[in-house]
Amino acid sequence: MNITLLNLHPPPADLARLVDEGLRRSPRQLPAWMLYDAEGSRLFAEICRQPEYTLTQREITLLEDHAPAIAAATGPGLVVEFGIGNARKVDPLLTALGSSVFAALDISLSALEEALSGLAARHPKTAMVGICCDHTRLQQLPPHPALEKQRRIGFFPGSSLGNFTPEDAVHFLRNARQLLAGGPLLLGLDQPREPALMEAAYDDAAGVSASFARNLLQRLNRDLQGDADPAQFRYQASWQPQQQRIEMALISRRDQTVHLAGNAWFFRNGEAWITEHSVKYSPMAAAALVARAGWRIERRWEDLHQQIALHLLLPAD
Ligand code: AVI
Repeated sequence: MNITLLNLHPPPADLARLVDEGLRRSPRQLPAWMLYDAEGSRLFAEICRQPEYTLTQREITLLEDHAPAIAAATGPGLVVEFGIGNARKVDPLLTALGSSVFAALDISLSALEEALSGLAARHPKTAMVGICCDHTRLQQLPPHPALEKQRRIGFFPGSSLGNFTPEDAVHFLRNARQLLAGGPLLLGLDQPREPALMEAAYDDAAGVSASFARNLLQRLNRDLQGDADPAQFRYQASWQPQQQRIEMALISRRDQTVHLAGNAWFFRNGEAWITEHSVKYSPMAAAALVARAGWRIERRWEDLHQQIALHLLLPAD
């Protein structure tokens, strides 16, 4: 199979320090990526199959329906995906573009290997290049013959940008602009909808979203020798109209002390431990955000339910 793996050896995150910083904040909040250990990734894939969480399926349908038009608008080039997500999303794009090279950036070498071998079987003529790195910070592609002399087309679907703080989102978009060296970026963003629909999407009836949040405590207990009891927190997902975002939180059911990495953290009864934010971007908010990072929206495609939109961004100057 035509797969190359380039390991840039991203330094491991200092989990104990980041947890310490996040739990000192008011309200307490840790970076969203901490939710994704192996069990967290499995639970997130299960969230994507819940009937209330329509984002993933609608974005796949949007890509499948519009891939030829999107390819015509982007023009040919090497596709660079930031974070290896659901292979069903990039699949129709690679077909429509007939790309000779696909580069996937991800922090997890095993996730890259698994995703690229599946894609390589379906796209035998495309050279697959996996780059193990922190895809939120990378500013240039490593030197490699397959990555040279080709126009680059960035791909960042799934509304993952919604989990970044606005500052981190701008930072990511600036880095992507530099890395793509004048090429376009196809960005998938979820839009605001009726609050009840959004709250249900993040608090599904089967309780998978709640398990996903509680798994953060299990992960920290394991990695930082902790004693957080997931049963002593209830899960809550609430729409915050001011910030146009869903806030996901574990709410302490009583006064309690949690130990992690040798530190003791006191939680009052009712106190929130925010596990994640998911910002929803209206067309105007999306335009304002990308402009801060030197991009402009050239075109957008929206699904029939007006939930998810794919934005074709071009450098503003
Ligand atoms: C990965 N990300 C775009 C998801 C979202 O919709 O914000 C994460 C998620 N968390 C709970 N449900 C989904």
